[in-house]
Amino acid sequence: MIGLHGKRILLGVTGSIAAYKAAEWVRELVKEEAVVTVAMTEAAERFVAPLTFAALSGQAVHRDMFDAAPDRVMAHINLSREADVILVAPATAQTLARLAHGMADNLLATVVLAARIPVVICPAMNSFMLNHPATQDNIRRLESFGYHIVQPGSGELACGEIGDGRLADWDAARETLLSLFQPDDLRGKTILITAGPTREALDPARFLSNRSSGRMGFALARTARRRGAEVVLVAGPVHLPDPPGMEVIRVTTAEEMRQTVAGRARAADIVVKSAAVADFRPSAYAAHKIKKTQQDLRLELVRNPDILAELGANRSPGQILVGFAAESRDHAGEGQRKLRGKNVDLMIVNDILGARTGFDVETNQVSLIDCRGTTTLPLLSKEETADRIWDAVVRLRDGRSGDGE
Ligand code: CTP
Repeated sequence: MIGLHGKRILLGVTGSIAAYKAAEWVRELVKEEAVVTVAMTEAAERFVAPLTFAALSGQAVHRDMFDAAPDRVMAHINLSREADVILVAPATAQTLARLAHGMADNLLATVVLAARIPVVICPAMNSFMLNHPATQDNIRRLESFGYHIVQPGSGELACGEIGDGRLADWDAARETLLSLFQPDDLRGKTILITAGPTREALDPARFLSNRSSGRMGFALARTARRRGAEVVLVAGPVHLPDPPGMEVIRVTTAEEMRQTVAGRARAADIVVKSAAVADFRPSAYAAHKIKKTQQDLRLELVRNPDILAELGANRSPGQILVGFAAESRDHAGEGQRKLRGKNVDLMIVNDILGARTGFDVETNQVSLIDCRGTTTLPLLSKEETADRIWDAVVRLRDGRSGDGE
Protein backbone atom coordinates (compact mmCIF):
# COMPACT_ATOMS: atom_id res chain seq x y z
CA MET A 1 0.00 0.00 0.00
CA ILE A 2 1.46 3.34 -1.04
CA GLY A 3 1.03 6.40 1.12
CA LEU A 4 1.03 7.08 4.83
CA HIS A 5 -2.24 5.30 5.55
CA GLY A 6 -2.04 3.62 8.97
CA LYS A 7 1.46 4.94 9.72
CA ARG A 8 1.97 6.19 13.28
CA ILE A 9 3.65 9.59 13.26
CA LEU A 10 4.88 11.31 16.39
CA LEU A 11 5.03 15.00 15.47
CA GLY A 12 7.28 17.19 17.62
CA VAL A 13 6.39 20.88 17.27
CA THR A 14 8.88 23.48 18.50
CA GLY A 15 8.79 27.24 18.98
CA SER A 16 8.91 28.77 15.53
CA ILE A 17 6.35 30.94 13.77
CA ALA A 18 6.13 28.05 11.28
CA ALA A 19 4.33 26.03 13.99
CA TYR A 20 1.05 27.09 12.36
CA LYS A 21 2.14 25.22 9.24
CA ALA A 22 2.61 22.07 11.31
CA ALA A 23 -1.11 22.29 12.11
CA GLU A 24 -1.79 22.11 8.36
CA TRP A 25 0.56 19.09 8.10
CA VAL A 26 -1.48 17.31 10.78
CA ARG A 27 -4.58 17.84 8.66
CA GLU A 28 -2.81 16.39 5.62
CA LEU A 29 -1.65 13.37 7.61
CA VAL A 30 -5.08 12.75 9.09
CA LYS A 31 -6.65 13.06 5.63
CA GLU A 32 -4.30 10.27 4.55
CA GLU A 33 -5.43 8.24 7.58
CA ALA A 34 -2.09 8.35 9.35
CA VAL A 35 -2.26 8.25 13.15
CA VAL A 36 -0.73 11.45 14.51
CA THR A 37 0.35 12.12 18.07
CA VAL A 38 1.71 15.58 18.85
CA ALA A 39 4.35 16.55 21.40
CA MET A 40 4.94 20.30 21.85
CA THR A 41 7.70 22.27 23.48
CA GLU A 42 6.80 25.12 25.80
CA ALA A 43 7.95 27.64 23.20
CA ALA A 44 5.71 26.06 20.55
CA GLU A 45 2.70 26.71 22.77
CA ARG A 46 3.45 30.44 22.51
CA PHE A 47 2.68 30.21 18.79
CA VAL A 48 -0.16 27.68 18.53
CA ALA A 49 -2.43 26.41 21.29
CA PRO A 50 -2.20 22.68 22.11
CA LEU A 51 -5.96 22.59 21.62
CA THR A 52 -5.46 23.19 17.89
CA PHE A 53 -3.25 20.11 17.57
CA ALA A 54 -5.51 18.04 19.81
CA ALA A 55 -8.53 18.91 17.70
CA LEU A 56 -6.76 18.25 14.39
CA SER A 57 -5.07 15.00 15.43
CA GLY A 58 -7.95 13.69 17.54
CA GLN A 59 -5.41 12.80 20.25
CA ALA A 60 -4.28 14.41 23.49
CA VAL A 61 -1.16 16.56 23.05
CA HIS A 62 1.96 15.71 25.09
CA ARG A 63 3.70 18.68 26.67
CA ASP A 64 5.09 17.97 30.10
CA MET A 65 8.14 15.84 30.88
CA PHE A 66 6.98 15.51 34.50
CA ASP A 67 3.34 14.61 33.88
CA ALA A 68 2.37 12.39 36.82
CA ALA A 69 -0.67 10.81 35.17
CA PRO A 70 -0.13 7.01 35.33
CA ASP A 71 -0.30 6.59 31.53
CA ARG A 72 2.16 9.44 30.99
CA VAL A 73 4.89 8.89 33.55
CA MET A 74 6.97 6.98 31.02
CA ALA A 75 5.94 9.12 28.03
CA HIS A 76 9.56 9.80 27.08
CA ILE A 77 10.02 6.07 26.40
CA ASN A 78 6.54 4.99 25.37
CA LEU A 79 5.81 7.73 22.83
CA SER A 80 8.47 6.50 20.42
CA ARG A 81 7.63 2.85 21.10
CA GLU A 82 4.11 3.58 19.91
CA ALA A 83 5.21 5.34 16.70
CA ASP A 84 6.76 4.35 13.37
CA VAL A 85 8.59 7.64 12.90
CA ILE A 86 9.29 10.90 14.72
CA LEU A 87 8.80 14.06 12.67
CA VAL A 88 10.19 17.24 14.23
CA ALA A 89 8.60 20.19 12.42
CA PRO A 90 9.31 23.02 12.63
CA ALA A 91 12.69 22.45 14.29
CA THR A 92 14.20 25.64 15.74
CA ALA A 93 17.93 26.38 16.04
CA GLN A 94 17.56 25.68 19.76
CA THR A 95 15.98 22.27 19.16
CA LEU A 96 18.66 21.36 16.60
CA ALA A 97 21.34 22.27 19.15
CA ARG A 98 19.57 20.31 21.87
CA LEU A 99 19.21 17.18 19.75
CA ALA A 100 22.71 17.45 18.29
CA HIS A 101 24.21 17.44 21.77
CA GLY A 102 21.99 14.87 23.39
CA MET A 103 20.48 17.32 25.86
CA ALA A 104 17.37 15.90 27.46
CA ASP A 105 15.81 18.96 29.02
CA ASN A 106 12.30 18.75 27.60
CA LEU A 107 9.86 16.00 26.70
CA LEU A 108 10.52 16.07 22.95
CA ALA A 109 14.30 15.94 23.36
CA THR A 110 14.06 12.99 25.76
CA VAL A 111 11.73 11.16 23.40
CA VAL A 112 14.15 11.63 20.49
CA LEU A 113 17.13 10.57 22.61
CA ALA A 114 15.37 7.40 23.72
CA ALA A 115 13.97 6.57 20.26
CA ARG A 116 14.87 3.54 18.17
CA ILE A 117 12.81 4.61 15.17
CA PRO A 118 13.62 6.93 12.22
CA VAL A 119 13.75 10.64 13.00
CA VAL A 120 12.91 13.27 10.37
CA ILE A 121 13.82 16.87 11.16
CA CYS A 122 12.52 19.93 9.31
CA PRO A 123 14.45 23.05 10.36
CA ALA A 124 12.81 26.47 10.09
CA MET A 125 14.38 29.77 11.16
CA ASN A 126 15.84 33.08 10.05
CA SER A 127 18.46 32.60 7.31
CA PHE A 128 21.36 34.05 9.36
CA MET A 129 20.55 31.65 12.18
CA LEU A 130 20.36 28.78 9.70
CA ASN A 131 23.61 29.65 7.97
CA HIS A 132 25.53 30.25 11.20
CA PRO A 133 28.35 27.70 11.49
CA ALA A 134 26.93 26.51 14.81
CA THR A 135 23.60 25.58 13.23
CA GLN A 136 25.23 24.06 10.15
CA ASP A 137 27.50 22.01 12.43
CA ASN A 138 24.49 20.81 14.38
CA ILE A 139 22.69 19.80 11.18
CA ARG A 140 25.72 17.80 10.02
CA ARG A 141 25.93 16.15 13.43
CA LEU A 142 22.26 15.20 13.31
CA GLU A 143 22.79 13.71 9.84
CA SER A 144 25.72 11.71 11.16
CA PHE A 145 23.36 10.16 13.73
CA GLY A 146 21.29 8.88 10.81
CA TYR A 147 18.52 11.46 11.25
CA HIS A 148 16.87 12.64 8.03
CA ILE A 149 17.01 16.38 7.47
CA VAL A 150 14.42 17.95 5.18
CA GLN A 151 16.26 21.06 4.02
CA PRO A 152 14.36 24.32 4.48
CA GLY A 153 13.20 26.19 1.40
CA SER A 154 14.00 29.73 0.49
CA GLY A 155 11.76 32.73 -0.01
CA GLU A 156 10.23 35.44 2.12
CA LEU A 157 10.65 34.74 5.84
CA ALA A 158 8.37 35.81 8.66
CA CYS A 159 11.06 38.27 9.80
CA GLY A 160 10.72 40.11 6.47
CA GLU A 161 14.05 38.90 5.06
CA ILE A 162 14.35 36.90 1.90
CA GLY A 163 16.56 33.82 2.06
CA ASP A 164 16.85 30.23 3.26
CA GLY A 165 15.04 29.08 6.34
CA ARG A 166 11.39 28.62 5.41
CA LEU A 167 9.90 25.39 6.65
CA ALA A 168 10.08 22.88 3.77
CA ASP A 169 6.93 22.25 1.77
CA TRP A 170 4.70 19.45 2.99
CA ASP A 171 5.37 17.62 -0.28
CA ALA A 172 9.10 17.40 0.50
CA ALA A 173 8.50 16.25 4.09
CA ARG A 174 5.94 13.70 2.90
CA GLU A 175 8.34 12.28 0.32
CA THR A 176 10.99 11.84 3.04
CA LEU A 177 8.46 10.09 5.28
CA LEU A 178 7.38 7.81 2.43
CA SER A 179 10.97 6.90 1.61
CA LEU A 180 11.34 5.42 5.11
CA PHE A 181 8.77 2.77 4.29
CA GLN A 182 10.27 1.79 0.93
CA PRO A 183 13.11 -0.55 0.00
CA ASP A 184 16.39 1.23 -0.73
CA ASP A 185 17.05 -0.89 -3.78
CA LEU A 186 17.71 1.94 -6.25
CA ARG A 187 20.28 3.73 -4.08
CA GLY A 188 23.42 4.62 -6.01
CA LYS A 189 21.59 4.52 -9.35
CA THR A 190 21.10 7.51 -11.60
CA ILE A 191 17.78 7.32 -13.39
CA LEU A 192 16.68 9.47 -16.31
CA ILE A 193 12.91 9.62 -16.78
CA THR A 194 10.94 11.42 -19.48
CA ALA A 195 7.29 12.31 -18.95
CA GLY A 196 4.36 14.09 -20.51
CA PRO A 197 3.64 15.05 -24.10
CA THR A 198 5.68 17.19 -26.44
CA ARG A 199 4.24 20.18 -28.22
CA GLU A 200 5.01 20.99 -31.85
CA ALA A 201 4.17 24.56 -32.81
CA LEU A 202 2.28 25.40 -36.01
CA ASP A 203 2.15 29.15 -35.55
CA PRO A 204 2.39 31.54 -32.55
CA ALA A 205 -1.09 30.46 -31.40
CA ARG A 206 -1.35 26.74 -32.19
CA PHE A 207 0.44 23.48 -31.64
CA LEU A 208 0.08 19.75 -32.17
CA SER A 209 0.23 17.61 -29.05
CA ASN A 210 -1.47 14.68 -27.32
CA ARG A 211 -3.44 13.92 -24.18
CA SER A 212 -0.57 12.72 -21.99
CA SER A 213 -0.80 14.29 -18.50
CA GLY A 214 2.67 13.21 -17.35
CA ARG A 215 1.19 11.48 -14.28
CA MET A 216 2.75 8.08 -14.97
CA GLY A 217 6.23 9.54 -15.53
CA PHE A 218 6.00 11.78 -12.46
CA ALA A 219 4.85 8.78 -10.39
CA LEU A 220 7.89 6.85 -11.65
CA ALA A 221 10.15 9.75 -10.70
CA ARG A 222 8.74 10.08 -7.17
CA THR A 223 8.79 6.36 -6.44
CA ALA A 224 12.35 5.98 -7.78
CA ARG A 225 13.51 8.81 -5.53
CA ARG A 226 11.80 7.18 -2.54
CA ARG A 227 13.76 4.02 -3.29
CA GLY A 228 17.02 5.97 -3.11
CA ALA A 229 17.75 6.83 -6.77
CA GLU A 230 19.22 10.08 -8.07
CA VAL A 231 16.54 11.14 -10.51
CA VAL A 232 16.63 13.47 -13.50
CA LEU A 233 13.12 14.13 -14.79
CA VAL A 234 12.71 15.57 -18.29
CA ALA A 235 9.12 16.75 -18.60
CA GLY A 236 7.13 18.04 -21.54
CA PRO A 237 4.42 20.66 -20.91
CA VAL A 238 2.30 19.32 -18.02
CA HIS A 239 0.45 20.89 -15.12
CA LEU A 240 2.23 18.96 -12.38
CA PRO A 241 4.53 20.57 -9.80
CA ASP A 242 8.23 19.61 -9.66
CA PRO A 243 8.58 16.56 -7.42
CA PRO A 244 10.98 17.37 -4.58
CA GLY A 245 14.51 15.96 -4.32
CA MET A 246 15.37 15.70 -8.00
CA GLU A 247 16.48 17.71 -11.00
CA VAL A 248 13.51 18.60 -13.19
CA ILE A 249 14.12 19.87 -16.71
CA ARG A 250 11.11 21.27 -18.55
CA VAL A 251 11.09 21.02 -22.35
CA THR A 252 8.51 21.68 -25.04
CA THR A 253 9.30 19.98 -28.35
CA ALA A 254 10.47 16.49 -29.28
CA GLU A 255 13.73 17.99 -30.53
CA GLU A 256 14.34 19.73 -27.17
CA MET A 257 13.57 16.47 -25.38
CA ARG A 258 15.95 14.61 -27.66
CA GLN A 259 18.81 17.03 -27.00
CA THR A 260 18.25 17.06 -23.26
CA VAL A 261 18.05 13.28 -23.10
CA ALA A 262 21.13 12.87 -25.31
CA GLY A 263 23.11 15.08 -22.93
CA ARG A 264 22.07 13.08 -19.86
CA ALA A 265 21.70 9.50 -21.03
CA ARG A 266 25.37 8.47 -20.81
CA ALA A 267 25.50 9.11 -17.08
CA ALA A 268 22.27 7.19 -16.43
CA ASP A 269 22.19 3.60 -15.19
CA ILE A 270 18.52 3.36 -16.11
CA VAL A 271 16.51 5.35 -18.67
CA VAL A 272 12.72 5.25 -18.66
CA LYS A 273 10.96 6.87 -21.62
CA SER A 274 7.41 7.31 -20.48
CA ALA A 275 6.94 10.53 -22.49
CA ALA A 276 4.37 10.51 -25.28
CA VAL A 277 6.66 12.07 -27.87
CA ALA A 278 4.92 13.56 -30.92
CA ASP A 279 5.87 11.39 -33.89
CA PHE A 280 5.44 14.28 -36.33
CA ARG A 281 5.88 18.04 -36.35
CA PRO A 282 4.75 20.66 -38.88
CA SER A 283 7.24 20.85 -41.73
CA ALA A 284 7.32 24.64 -41.36
CA TYR A 285 6.53 27.05 -38.54
CA ALA A 286 4.39 30.01 -39.59
CA ALA A 287 5.83 33.13 -37.95
CA HIS A 288 2.41 34.78 -38.03
CA LYS A 289 -0.97 33.34 -37.17
CA ILE A 290 -2.40 31.22 -39.99
CA LYS A 291 -5.58 32.96 -41.26
CA LYS A 292 -8.71 31.23 -42.52
CA THR A 293 -8.48 32.61 -46.02
CA GLN A 294 -9.18 29.29 -47.74
CA GLN A 295 -11.86 26.56 -47.37
CA ASP A 296 -9.42 23.70 -46.63
CA LEU A 297 -6.02 23.71 -45.05
CA ARG A 298 -3.58 20.85 -45.52
CA LEU A 299 -0.83 20.52 -42.99
CA GLU A 300 2.44 19.01 -44.03
CA LEU A 301 4.15 17.08 -41.24
CA VAL A 302 7.63 15.61 -41.02
CA ARG A 303 8.85 12.78 -38.78
CA ASN A 304 10.38 13.58 -35.43
CA PRO A 305 13.42 11.60 -34.34
CA ASP A 306 12.62 8.45 -32.33
CA ILE A 307 14.44 9.23 -29.10
CA LEU A 308 14.02 5.78 -27.60
CA ALA A 309 15.28 4.03 -30.75
CA GLU A 310 18.33 6.33 -30.72
CA LEU A 311 18.99 5.46 -27.08
CA GLY A 312 18.60 1.76 -27.91
CA ALA A 313 21.12 2.06 -30.72
CA ASN A 314 23.72 3.91 -28.61
CA ARG A 315 23.23 2.47 -25.13
CA SER A 316 26.12 2.33 -22.74
CA PRO A 317 27.13 -1.09 -21.41
CA GLY A 318 24.93 -2.34 -18.59
CA GLN A 319 22.39 0.47 -19.03
CA ILE A 320 18.76 -0.60 -18.61
CA LEU A 321 16.29 0.92 -21.06
CA VAL A 322 12.56 0.96 -20.43
CA GLY A 323 10.02 2.09 -23.03
CA PHE A 324 6.29 2.72 -22.95
CA ALA A 325 3.69 1.92 -25.56
CA ALA A 326 0.25 3.42 -25.36
CA GLU A 327 -1.89 1.27 -27.64
CA SER A 328 -5.51 0.99 -28.70
CA ARG A 329 -5.24 -2.57 -30.15
CA ASP A 330 -2.92 -5.61 -30.39
CA HIS A 331 -1.19 -4.53 -27.17
CA ALA A 332 1.04 -7.58 -26.78
CA GLY A 333 2.04 -7.64 -30.45
CA GLU A 334 2.87 -3.93 -30.50
CA GLY A 335 4.78 -4.25 -27.22
CA GLN A 336 6.89 -7.13 -28.58
CA ARG A 337 7.54 -5.27 -31.84
CA LYS A 338 8.73 -2.14 -30.03
CA LEU A 339 10.79 -4.15 -27.50
CA ARG A 340 12.84 -5.67 -30.31
CA GLY A 341 12.67 -2.78 -32.79
CA LYS A 342 13.95 -0.20 -30.29
CA ASN A 343 16.40 -2.55 -28.53
CA VAL A 344 15.00 -1.99 -25.03
CA ASP A 345 14.93 -4.28 -21.98
CA LEU A 346 11.39 -3.73 -20.86
CA MET A 347 8.27 -2.33 -22.53
CA ILE A 348 5.31 -1.13 -20.51
CA VAL A 349 2.12 -1.35 -22.54
CA ASN A 350 -1.17 0.23 -21.61
CA ASP A 351 -4.58 0.50 -23.18
CA ILE A 352 -5.48 4.07 -24.08
CA LEU A 353 -9.13 3.19 -24.70
CA GLY A 354 -9.87 1.96 -21.16
CA ALA A 355 -11.77 4.45 -18.99
CA ARG A 356 -9.37 3.96 -16.04
CA THR A 357 -6.17 3.12 -17.89
CA GLY A 358 -5.77 5.82 -20.49
CA PHE A 359 -4.65 9.40 -20.40
CA ASP A 360 -5.20 11.83 -17.58
CA VAL A 361 -6.57 9.40 -14.96
CA GLU A 362 -5.12 8.42 -11.59
CA THR A 363 -5.07 4.68 -12.29
CA ASN A 364 -3.42 2.45 -14.84
CA GLN A 365 -3.32 -1.17 -15.90
CA VAL A 366 -0.19 -2.19 -17.73
CA SER A 367 1.55 -5.23 -19.15
CA LEU A 368 5.28 -5.60 -18.66
CA ILE A 369 6.98 -7.21 -21.64
CA ASP A 370 10.60 -8.34 -21.65
CA CYS A 371 12.52 -11.04 -23.53
CA ARG A 372 11.17 -13.70 -21.15
CA GLY A 373 7.48 -12.92 -21.60
CA THR A 374 4.58 -10.79 -20.47
CA THR A 375 3.26 -9.98 -17.00
CA THR A 376 -0.04 -8.13 -16.70
CA LEU A 377 -0.58 -6.09 -13.54
CA PRO A 378 -4.00 -5.42 -12.01
CA LEU A 379 -5.64 -2.00 -12.13
CA LEU A 380 -3.62 0.10 -9.68
CA SER A 381 -2.91 3.73 -8.87
CA LYS A 382 -0.14 5.17 -11.03
CA GLU A 383 2.23 5.24 -8.03
CA GLU A 384 1.55 1.57 -7.27
CA THR A 385 2.05 0.74 -10.95
CA ALA A 386 5.32 2.69 -10.89
CA ASP A 387 6.52 0.70 -7.89
CA ARG A 388 5.74 -2.59 -9.65
CA ILE A 389 7.72 -1.35 -12.67
CA TRP A 390 10.70 -0.63 -10.39
CA ASP A 391 10.36 -4.12 -8.90
CA ALA A 392 10.69 -5.50 -12.46
CA VAL A 393 13.67 -3.24 -13.21
CA VAL A 394 15.40 -4.37 -10.01
CA ARG A 395 14.79 -8.02 -10.98
CA LEU A 396 16.28 -7.32 -14.41
CA ARG A 397 19.34 -5.68 -12.87
CA ASP A 398 19.82 -8.41 -10.28
CA GLY A 399 19.40 -11.07 -13.01
CA ARG A 400 22.15 -9.39 -14.97
CA SER A 401 24.56 -9.14 -12.09
CA GLY A 402 23.79 -12.84 -11.46
CA ASP A 403 24.88 -13.50 -15.05
CA GLY A 404 28.22 -11.96 -14.21
CA GLU A 405 27.72 -8.71 -16.17
N1 CTP B 1 9.28 7.45 -28.47
C1 CTP B 1 10.37 8.28 -28.60
N2 CTP B 1 10.45 9.16 -29.64
C2 CTP B 1 9.46 9.22 -30.56
C3 CTP B 1 8.33 8.37 -30.43
C4 CTP B 1 8.27 7.51 -29.37
O1 CTP B 1 11.27 8.21 -27.76
N3 CTP B 1 9.54 10.07 -31.55
C5 CTP B 1 9.26 6.50 -27.36
C6 CTP B 1 8.17 6.79 -26.33
O2 CTP B 1 8.68 7.61 -25.31
C7 CTP B 1 7.83 5.40 -25.83
C8 CTP B 1 8.10 4.50 -27.02
O3 CTP B 1 8.97 5.23 -27.88
O4 CTP B 1 8.68 4.98 -24.79
C9 CTP B 1 6.90 4.08 -27.80
O5 CTP B 1 6.15 5.19 -28.19
P1 CTP B 1 4.83 5.00 -29.02
O6 CTP B 1 4.28 6.35 -29.35
O7 CTP B 1 3.93 4.00 -28.35
O8 CTP B 1 5.35 4.26 -30.30
P2 CTP B 1 5.94 4.75 -31.66
O9 CTP B 1 7.39 4.45 -31.65
O10 CTP B 1 5.55 6.14 -31.92
O11 CTP B 1 5.27 3.72 -32.68
P3 CTP B 1 3.83 3.70 -33.40
O12 CTP B 1 3.65 5.06 -33.98
O13 CTP B 1 4.00 2.64 -34.41
O14 CTP B 1 2.83 3.35 -32.34
